[in-house]
Amino acid sequence: MCGIFGYVNYLVEKSRGEIAETLIEGLQRLEYRGYDSAGLAIDGDIPDETYIVRQIGKVAALKKEYESKHYNPDVTFVSHAGIAHTRWATHGQPKVVNCHPQRSDVNNEFVVVHNGIITNYRELKQLLQNKGFVFESDTDTECIAKLFKHVYDTNIKNGNDPDFNELMKQILIEIDGSYGLLVKSIHYPNEVVATRRGSPLLVGVKTEKKLKVDFVDVEFSDVQEELNPTQKSMEAGQFVPVASGESALRQSRSRAFLSEDSMPQPTEFFLSSDPSSVIQHTKKVLFLEDDDIAHIYDGELHIHRARRDGNMSATRSIQTLEMELAQIMKGPYKHFMQKEIFEQPESTFNTMRGRVDFQNHTVTLGGLKSWLPTIRRCRRIIMIACGTSYHSCLATRSIFEELTEIPVSVELASDFLDRRSPVFRDDTCIFVSQSGETADSLLALQYCLERDAITVGVVNSVGSSISRQTHCGVHINAGPEIGVASTKAYTSQFIALVMIALSLSDDHVSKVQRRHEIIDGLEKIPEQIKTVLLLEDKIKKLCTEELANQRSLLLLGRGYQFASALEGALKIKEISYMHSEGVLAGELKHGVLALVDDQLPIIAFATRDSLFPKVMSAIEQVTARAGRPIIVRNEGDESIKIESALATLEVPLTVDCLQGLLNIIPLQMMSYWLAVNKGVDVDFPRNLAKSVTVE
Ligand code: UD1
Ligand code: F6R
Repeated sequence: MCGIFGYVNYLVEKSRGEIAETLIEGLQRLEYRGYDSAGLAIDGDIPDETYIVRQIGKVAALKKEYESKHYNPDVTFVSHAGIAHTRWATHGQPKVVNCHPQRSDVNNEFVVVHNGIITNYRELKQLLQNKGFVFESDTDTECIAKLFKHVYDTNIKNGNDPDFNELMKQILIEIDGSYGLLVKSIHYPNEVVATRRGSPLLVGVKTEKKLKVDFVDVEFSDVQEELNPTQKSMEAGQFVPVASGESALRQSRSRAFLSEDSMPQPTEFFLSSDPSSVIQHTKKVLFLEDDDIAHIYDGELHIHRARRDGNMSATRSIQTLEMELAQIMKGPYKHFMQKEIFEQPESTFNTMRGRVDFQNHTVTLGGLKSWLPTIRRCRRIIMIACGTSYHSCLATRSIFEELTEIPVSVELASDFLDRRSPVFRDDTCIFVSQSGETADSLLALQYCLERDAITVGVVNSVGSSISRQTHCGVHINAGPEIGVASTKAYTSQFIALVMIALSLSDDHVSKVQRRHEIIDGLEKIPEQIKTVLLLEDKIKKLCTEELANQRSLLLLGRGYQFASALEGALKIKEISYMHSEGVLAGELKHGVLALVDDQLPIIAFATRDSLFPKVMSAIEQVTARAGRPIIVRNEGDESIKIESALATLEVPLTVDCLQGLLNIIPLQMMSYWLAVNKGVDVDFPRNLAKSVTVE
């Protein structure tokens, strides 16, 4: 998701270095939302100069790019306006030219950062091109920057000298869609205008003295009515210059910012799409309403609206955020774990974004591309990991072997090291780790590097030790995982491993059809996860009514679903402290059956694949001993009718090798609700740490 951050200082002396750092830090606070590129705009050394720095990848990459420019960090600004952005590509690839800020022209007269989508950008672009504007990017945002310049120039030509907010009003008549916008211009030094429609935006205010009143008056104008608001001037073939009737407003002082002695007072403003990036600076924030135009200049915040709206309040209150940062970042969820479970439609999509071309059925992993021929020639693949990450390897081993036709073994890092397992230079060792810092996995990586094997990382944390020390790899791009129990990292690791298998097999003619089937399946996964998440109420009820007093639980799975059984059992153990065990359904009769009675809850994964009949026979063995299973089955699969079942949880059908992505989600929710019911601190279960950096 895109993120906006802006910083305006007035009579608060800041060096360029400090300003850039504030902007970059603000973006870092937005990182958890996911993005693929970033950028910022600040003032240059001479008047009318704006520096724009942009880079694809992480905010850390932007910081590096900024540093490489060697702008003098010591130049000070008593007043200054800077804007910044993290972008999630919608219109145009993640390329530098498509990063924000977008600009009006080579002189950076107007620079814009934008969240959302301008739906009529094609028409606007055409019109502006007809007027001689040359576009540089594939973005919809660029037309806003160019539109600003065009409207500004037209005004000036006609003898008007419009206020910045008047310009914004004129622009808003022309654009359709949804947006959060910040605009900076050399024509309005140290000022920012901001607006929103359907996309959040807030302004944080920091002053030394207490504000006189905790609200800002809305300044209405009916200027649009004169302009016939229903008709875009663009449709009439040209832009109508703004009637400059409002300059007098510049004289009016905003009551909130009036100091006792009427002297201007030092003020800082932080504009953002997300309170989490503002809270470290100030707790005083004003949330903009749709169509509000915030105009910041001379240490004051003015809110303008084009028209007086019947029911609309004439003030905007400056609220005090009582929430702590952690709380804000949790959004509407009670715990990070719950938030991360519910993020999976997005996080799984992010793992595939820019990598899977669903139309042409191709997969491109930038971090692996040049290594593919070497890996294809290897003698065997060894997947090495711990805990949940190990389960993602188990879940995908079979499809790896099927597609690559290379033998695959899956190892727990600690056991692999204990055995000092033989490793050779024609082996490929894949290290799967959310944190990239797990000590056992890191030691195993050293061990394999010493033996000259090819090492591949599948890691969530960019810049982590495993990510740095492996020869190559894939970042799973799931976004930060904060809850100790791994949830969204599991589904993203699963997808990343499937993508690796697809990449390795894209030269196998005999696999074309199977690969198409899997890629089609992958496309639907994010939406299907949304459907599975609807089971939450049912699962919550099941946990309260049937499972609350249980001490133990078994999970049965076979084939692809054995990993789901193990991972489900691990989730339940670590979060709810209830004993649980994942059992390979085929092993039931070799011992575990002795545990089955009418008390022990048993969860059976009975989704459709070639092993379905065998799973059914295991379920029958359970019910024949008065067991009351909880069945996870595909939607509408009426063939499974078990009178004694405690509950049935239905998940959508997908390709056999991807079914585990959907099946694990009810178990994640179950472990969560079992733990919440017990009053356990879900995000920090006892005895466990998020990153296990000791052996
Ligand atoms: C990269 C960018 C991504 C951008 C994309 C498109 C980074 C971190 N990623 O993603 O933001 O959207 O280009 O241009 O800047 N690597 C390892 N070991 C690991 C994981 C990764 O060595 O465990 C290496 C890879 O080989 C690669 C680099 O790190 O050289 C980045 O990997 P990854 O983020 O997966 O690459 P892209 O998908 O190309
Ligand atoms: C379980 C869990 C752990 C980790 C394991 C490996 O929910 O989070 O089992 O999966 O400690 O950690 P990473 O993936 O960071 O190497």
